[in-house]
Amino acid sequence: MAHEAVFPLFHYNLRNYGFFRYFCNRFSPILRKRTKVDFFKGALQTNMLDNNIIDRLDRIATPFYYYDMDLFRRTVDHVAELAAAHDIKVHYAIKANAEKPLLEYISSKGFGADCVSGNEVLHAHKCGFPAKKIVYAGVGKSDKEIYQALMLGIEAFNCESLQEIYVINEMARAHGKQADISIRINPDIDAHTHKYVTTGLYENKFGISQHEFDKLIDILKNSTNINFIGLHFHIGSQITRVDEVFALECQRVNDIVAYFERQGLSVDNINLGGGLGVDYDDPDENPIADFGTWFRTISDNIRRSPHQSIHVEPGRSLTAQCASLISRVLFVKSGETKNFLIMDAGMNDLIRPALYGAYHKIENLSAAQRPFFPTHQAYDIVGPVCESSDVWGAGRLLPLSVRGDLMAIRSTGAYGQVMASRYNMKDLAPAVFSDRLEDAPLMTDYFNL
Ligand code: LLP
Repeated sequence: MAHEAVFPLFHYNLRNYGFFRYFCNRFSPILRKRTKVDFFKGALQTNMLDNNIIDRLDRIATPFYYYDMDLFRRTVDHVAELAAAHDIKVHYAIKANAEKPLLEYISSKGFGADCVSGNEVLHAHKCGFPAKKIVYAGVGKSDKEIYQALMLGIEAFNCESLQEIYVINEMARAHGKQADISIRINPDIDAHTHKYVTTGLYENKFGISQHEFDKLIDILKNSTNINFIGLHFHIGSQITRVDEVFALECQRVNDIVAYFERQGLSVDNINLGGGLGVDYDDPDENPIADFGTWFRTISDNIRRSPHQSIHVEPGRSLTAQCASLISRVLFVKSGETKNFLIMDAGMNDLIRPALYGAYHKIENLSAAQRPFFPTHQAYDIVGPVCESSDVWGAGRLLPLSVRGDLMAIRSTGAYGQVMASRYNMKDLAPAVFSDRLEDAPLMTDYFNL
């Protein structure tokens, strides 16, 4: 047993994954040194995931989300600088990723939080966001959720229907409170993105549309326990035609703000929502989203008076590129017409490919350490879940892959962990942070080796 305690991975590899992989990974130290994997390489930084880190990740029980905290902090710092330069306030959309270490860092930078449920509001507050920096949107806020947020004294409810305003006003009156509210408007703008993440068209359920504006203004002027503080917009997510779409949004917002002010309502906060897209095709080339163009487009196109502040709510763009879902090849299977790589991560861990047909780049980290086996092969990379849509990628060209190889499903820091489920009674994949690798559960913790 003594050698197994000293070389747990050695033992594990030999017994479970065979001599081939063991030989490839262990007996080419000189070649391996020359073959660092360019993991996050981009204009603003270089951050290589070198063989030492791959070796450490290889010991961790898969699947798990690996967070590059260095890239994450640089992304947030970059946004903080731009926001200050453009005098734009940032509320992070915590629906994209609610991991505590990320929220603590974002709140420490003075950003606010954009929440869409009572639990998100409470969680944001626990992770350091002051109540007065929390805004709460969502078409269906329950009475309990409204009550909790009201008692906490949040910055604003972003109201999405006339009935909601009525309920908040009544509840505030019953408890002797005043509630600050913004109105989410549906501006009927096409964000040119996937139909499931388009939110600003009249056919979508979000926001209040123009045909109700007269009634809305009447309610806002005659409700005693709400204070109208501004207008809120969010037209969609993963927007890549940044200058075109956000310029259009700003022009439409200018007209709507002017209309409300003509009705005698002071629009102090103008919240343009989130939506900035990231590069899923090439996360190494563009590890940090194009915040420069986004902020510049807003500054150039929004009309603002001295009493008005401009707000944005990025979610995906702050967190997507900083994480990879790390998984292991369980089996390699040759089907009648194709080869399958069966991974231990499935649609329960990351539902984006199954739900939206979303593309995520996939890399074989172990093969990158095997410079003398350059052969590539097309694989259908699939998960273990009993659903035919549990597919990571069809016909993906990868280096020859073997059982036990460590794989990275890239750009999974947004809408990954937060949308995970326990379907098939699978365990939830944990978060592993690059600056706390020692806390990660090891493969050997789960085996009686
Ligand atoms: N503000 C509001 C009111 C939102 O509904 C959202 C996202 C955001 C801000 C942040 O948008 P972002 O910057 O992340 O694009 N699960 C989908 C994305 C759903 C987005 C929902 N709302 C996905 O995996 O692509």
